[in-house]
Amino acid sequence: MIVAGIHIQALAADLVAGEKVSQSCALCHGQFGITSMAGTPSIAGQPEVYLSSQLKQFRDGKRQNAVMGQMAKPLSDADIENVSAWFAQFEIELKKR
Ligand code: HEC
Repeated sequence: MIVAGIHIQALAADLVAGEKVSQSCALCHGQFGITSMAGTPSIAGQPEVYLSSQLKQFRDGKRQNAVMGQMAKPLSDADIENVSAWFAQFEIELKKR
């Protein structure tokens, strides 16, 4: 996109690539980010920016958790954007238990 002569690169997430990354998360967070594992948060439908910032913090050791530190370590910025967009794409419907 060109705005006033400045080239702005759209940060379009790649959902296909994101789904691939998500396969390594499914064991704990569930295939679509709804977990059934105690102590593990559901991440489906969380805002993309929340997920990506948490993942970067795990990767950079600013948020400390042994498991997630290991999981986030090999992820590139692009992997993080893509997998965050993938889990963020789901809409959660609320109903009373
Ligand atoms: C072996 C189990 C396991 C795997 C695999 C795993 N996670 Fe996690 N994840 C956890 C646990 C446990 C926590 C809670 C950490 C804490 O208490 O701080 C967590 C926390 C998170 C959070 C923070 C959620 C919040 O509400 O703050 C995000 C985001 C996340 N994981 C994303 C991922 C992604 C993306 C992957 C795959 C690349 C992944 N996780 C793989 C166990 C796992």
